[in-house]
Amino acid sequence: MENQHTLVVRGCILDFVNDPFFVSDTEAVRFIPDGVLVIRQGQVAALGPYAELGSTLGGVPIVDYSGQLIMPGMIDTHIHYPQTGMMAAYGEQLLEWLNRYTFPTERKFKDPAYARSVADIFLDQLLSHGTTTALVFAAVFPESVDAFFEAAAARNLRMISGKVMMDRNAPDYLRDTAESSYVDSKALIQKWHGRGRLLYAVTPRFAGTSTPAQLKLAARLLQEFPDVYLHTHLSENVNEVAWVQSLFPDSNGYLDVYDRAGLVGDRAVFAHGVQLTEAEFQRLSAAKAAISFCPTSNLFLGSGLFKIEQAKSPEHPVNVGLGTDVGAGTSFSLLQTANEAYKVAQLRGQKLSAFKALFLATLGGARALSLDDKLGNFNLGKEADFIVLNPRATPLMAFRNSPEAPDSLEALADRAFSLIILGDDRTITATYVMGQLAYSSPAP
Ligand code: GUN
Ligand code: ZN
Repeated sequence: MENQHTLVVRGCILDFVNDPFFVSDTEAVRFIPDGVLVIRQGQVAALGPYAELGSTLGGVPIVDYSGQLIMPGMIDTHIHYPQTGMMAAYGEQLLEWLNRYTFPTERKFKDPAYARSVADIFLDQLLSHGTTTALVFAAVFPESVDAFFEAAAARNLRMISGKVMMDRNAPDYLRDTAESSYVDSKALIQKWHGRGRLLYAVTPRFAGTSTPAQLKLAARLLQEFPDVYLHTHLSENVNEVAWVQSLFPDSNGYLDVYDRAGLVGDRAVFAHGVQLTEAEFQRLSAAKAAISFCPTSNLFLGSGLFKIEQAKSPEHPVNVGLGTDVGAGTSFSLLQTANEAYKVAQLRGQKLSAFKALFLATLGGARALSLDDKLGNFNLGKEADFIVLNPRATPLMAFRNSPEAPDSLEALADRAFSLIILGDDRTITATYVMGQLAYSSPAP
């Protein structure tokens, strides 16, 4: 084995090869209690039990994480980098929250130096929370997209982002026009989409802040560049849904506004979907579009309880990922987001197992972002973004979890559940990007 550019890590390996919402845990979960992951040239080169692979590794030193869990890097399917500094804004629901806090905050992102400084903080937060890929709202200013992609490129991260398009119902200082948003987005696509690991998302903020003309031009971009994404918000809050209906009186519901414009396709990712109807879930399923489930945000803004079992119904399955939706979301941690997702399910009489939640945070997110050929699990050839989690990271977790690795799927399920309920950034020992150490936790 060629030693150069080879990394070997040893620990308890957990990833997903199928969707536990639709198949048994045995079929969905890949679990290697004492495993090794071999990375060459930034990609997964081998995976298996230490007992089998250990002797084939030649002289390559092994980074030993025995007793800890090695998982694919987590994927955040909806987040706003300009809102990093305005988390925990008190007392409002969606539309008032946008006007009172969000729009004045995003104004500051016209300044490239300021935007870059926040992008740096934001990406370091993602990495320290175990997130290696995200679908990210920038602000309306093209400068804010440049700053973000420059910061992501400097860290060799696979990131998707785009310029917010909004040409009405926002302050003058944040409005573009249908035409300028088209021209600016097109230039950004040509500059950034497919450069290194970076990808572009056409990003109309939501139906409330776009004219029909702007939505049409967003769809034109999708036609001209078929592999860029569509990223927007959908059916988050009851007042928002009613307002959108009044702005688009001819539409047959919120999703239909986007559908009539030509925005609902297999590379579309819609944040929230809390208020969706059965017919809208069916349409999303038929279109192979995705929903980003953002429980901490939905609870923080009082938006409502997402119907995960309806989205994942066998009759009309929709691709779902987890989103933190920072700054309406209250944590960068997808573990904490999974914790709140579990509670949202509980409030609706549903059970969200740890495996289902961790699937949403990894392979499910990759599928939602059409990146499952590159990310989401440890299949050979995938990009080696992975994290190491310590199930005994805090005194409480050390009391809860024994030092021994779990030796059955049931024991693993219990340990994984403790990670999502009690875990957060303290649980992340290390984050690797393409096989390179990008974050390691401070020594205790
Ligand atoms: N809908 C339109 N804009 C936003 C936003 O910035 N955050 C959330 N949560 N919902 C939105
Ligand atoms: Zn959002």
